[in-house]
Amino acid sequence: MRKKITLIGSGNVGQIVALRLAEMDIADIVLIGGVHMGRTAGRALDLAEAAPIERYHKRLVGYTGEFAAMKDSDIVVISAGIPRRPGMSRDDLLGMNTAIVRMVSEKVRELAPDSIVIMVTNPLDAMCHVAYDATGFPRHRVIGMAGVLDSARFATFIGMELNVSIENIQAFVLGGHGDSMVPLTRYTTVAGIPICELLSEQQIDALVERTRKGGAEIVNLMKTGSAYFAPACAVKEIVEAIIRDKKKILPCSAYLEGEYGITGTFVGVPVKLGEEGIEEIVEIDLSAEEHDALVSSADSVSVLVEQIRVMEDVKETIVPLAINMKDQKVHSSL
Ligand code: LAC
Repeated sequence: MRKKITLIGSGNVGQIVALRLAEMDIADIVLIGGVHMGRTAGRALDLAEAAPIERYHKRLVGYTGEFAAMKDSDIVVISAGIPRRPGMSRDDLLGMNTAIVRMVSEKVRELAPDSIVIMVTNPLDAMCHVAYDATGFPRHRVIGMAGVLDSARFATFIGMELNVSIENIQAFVLGGHGDSMVPLTRYTTVAGIPICELLSEQQIDALVERTRKGGAEIVNLMKTGSAYFAPACAVKEIVEAIIRDKKKILPCSAYLEGEYGITGTFVGVPVKLGEEGIEEIVEIDLSAEEHDALVSSADSVSVLVEQIRVMEDVKETIVPLAINMKDQKVHSSL
């Protein structure tokens, strides 16, 4: 049976994921953009027309706002939302992107109830919470992308510093996708050699800092949006692990229920990915310092989730109140 992957969000990430997945020829692809992404059908047709050259056989279609097209998808990737601009943190996107991700996730619940959701929209870990709440899916079917991206950045910077092949580097970043992410230097190796044998403490600290600010570095260079090539490749890696049932261990945002002593929060940890989604949360030994850093990163995610609750409580109180007041006005003018 042909697999179906829907990409909700047809901005740069959605388009590049569509191209990478089409090239792999592993599933039919549906690209869905919002009303401001009116060119989605054109983008998908353009990609479909590359098939005779690239020799992919699966279907590739695009729609604007037509959520019904995702019906019965196996995987839904959500990258819909606004990206940040220079000076903004990922957390500054909370209000706008919560509304978008909630609306989209409700559609996923209705139309693709057995799918696995991969979240890309920022602030990543908090948006995983929104999708988890709105879909009601079990936790193994809601996955946040960022650890793969952050680890790739860390590996890139290590490769640049040591001038060694990227193939030699195994980098590992846990925690939330924010300034408090936790690059695990002890588990980061070059040809199996821990980086602390190859780099000084100051060099490692500088690489860790650059990794933490990796997203902002690109936003500051681009001025009008955030990174998309590496994020899209990270999504491709996760999708491939699931569709091919690889049982591959990758750092992803997952809902913890006691693992690492953390409960009720999405945060980046190593997970085993296969056809069921997250098939295992892998618990590795952390030093007291690493564990504290992970807990504090999880705490920053919880702060955002709390802000969402407050925002939504306010909306629930203020909006009916406003409607009520409008009704009163209408009555009084009758
Ligand atoms: C970044 C954005 C996509 O880290 O979160 O580049």
